[in-house]
Amino acid sequence: MTSPAQRPVDTARPVVLLTRRLPDAVEARASRDYAAILNPADETLSGAAIAERAAGAGADAVLCCAGDRLDAAAIAALPAGVRVLATFSVGTDHIDLEAARARGLTVTNTPDVLTDATADIALLLILGAARRASEGERMIRADAWTGWTPTQLMGTHLGGKRLGIIGMGRIGQAVAQRARAFGMTIHYSNRKRLPAELEQGATYHADPDAMLAVCDVLSLHFPATAETRHWLNAERIARLPRGAILVNTARGSVVEDEAVIAALRSGQLAAAGLDVFENEPRLHPGYRDLPNSFLLPHLGSATVETRCAMGFRALDNIDAVLAGREAPDRVV
Ligand code: DGY
Repeated sequence: MTSPAQRPVDTARPVVLLTRRLPDAVEARASRDYAAILNPADETLSGAAIAERAAGAGADAVLCCAGDRLDAAAIAALPAGVRVLATFSVGTDHIDLEAARARGLTVTNTPDVLTDATADIALLLILGAARRASEGERMIRADAWTGWTPTQLMGTHLGGKRLGIIGMGRIGQAVAQRARAFGMTIHYSNRKRLPAELEQGATYHADPDAMLAVCDVLSLHFPATAETRHWLNAERIARLPRGAILVNTARGSVVEDEAVIAALRSGQLAAAGLDVFENEPRLHPGYRDLPNSFLLPHLGSATVETRCAMGFRALDNIDAVLAGREAPDRVV
């Protein structure tokens, strides 16, 4: 049970509702500049509970997070005084943007500041999946390592392999830059071809389906929308070279779990490195039983520096809207 927050006594300042616990420095700035309603117990709030808290507090702004489901009903239930929904994420798939637009609510996100952290995690997943890191770690933790042998846990060498990136925005480009350092050749597909200075010798494929055949490693970097739901399905997995590696740091819903799990079992996929899952945190249980799945709990942006930068960026957006200025990262 959650209790609706009451409007703070200090009504002279705008009220900002933070739906989750945020890094100390972010909460300190929010509390310095606003009558901030915090969530010190870090309770998971439903969309309805967020709206209820916002109403109870008389909120002028809501700083929400990727795990908050702000569907049309929750947006309709927000009190009229809420002018901005600033999400602490670059992704906005948890928010019904059309509903927000319809009621004139500004929605902002936090681009740029999490590019490097997310690209780093993508490389960790590529390496972890290719080099069977979680199998090795589990062997040691289970005290099952009997010693070095020439054929133990042999993985895939990255040098000379082809990395296919779907969605060559900021994060896709940062992944490409890192993968080049490992000797990988870059292929990409994107709505628009990049200029040569950003392409850096990568091979462009206008049709992502046509690129799949050359992807020894496939890394997904496009947003979750109704159109991209379950984009990576059995048919597309079959187009990959046998033994390909899948990496997903975008959103879980862009892959069809049953198809990925079947391919990991059959060897069509040698391994998968996944940081995001459909229906987080209740991911498909089939992933847990597979030795060749390398799984992280949505850590893409989880560094102290990045999470602080995301919080400050969200507050910059709230500052702008509440001061009557255009939000720097306005999505709607
Ligand atoms: C985002 O910003 O969309 C991330 O997934 C949250 O770290």
